[in-house]
Amino acid sequence: MNEDQTNPMRKNIILIGFMGCGKSTIGIKLSKSLNYTMIDTDHYIESREKLTIPEIFEARGQEAFRDMETKLLRELVANKTTCHIIATGGGIISRPENIDLLRQLGFVVWLNARPEIILERTSRNQNRPLLQVDDPLSVIKKLLKERKPLYKSAAHVKISTSDLSQRELTLGISESARYHFGHH
Ligand code: S3P
Repeated sequence: MNEDQTNPMRKNIILIGFMGCGKSTIGIKLSKSLNYTMIDTDHYIESREKLTIPEIFEARGQEAFRDMETKLLRELVANKTTCHIIATGGGIISRPENIDLLRQLGFVVWLNARPEIILERTSRNQNRPLLQVDDPLSVIKKLLKERKPLYKSAAHVKISTSDLSQRELTLGISESARYHFGHH
């Protein structure tokens, strides 16, 4: 039987979770320590569209941005991407198709944090259109409630980033991925 017929496990680590939970930061650390290539879906889309995320939301709207995320995930699956760290935008799980695509790509890790910590981390800049509102904490709590079941259904593991150092997170995720890749 050839590779395609056995549908082999792709050795990617996919980081999902809410804005401000450390996906990009931990993704960079993981890519260095494992010598995997890093893809940040937000950055990839920005450079492909030659627009920032706020500009894409403003000019094309959120649904068009979601289409761009789905297109990119389909391409990563079709290209048989492997040995990559894929840091995703916090809303990528909004589309059921994306959940299936994420799991086809490899080991899916859900990074979570407390709403107050998310608020603190995301209030440092204005590059998240969904949080440019009068009461961002309420929006964070509401979106977290809506999205938690979706993150849960996409993820192989959930890790709380609130009380762990970047080093602890990187080591923990690498170990879990090694175990996962060895048993699938
Ligand atoms: C979004 C999260 C952002 C970015 C966009 C929408 C969301 O990514 O994709 O602003 O819907 O949660 P980060 O999670 O990397 O901030």
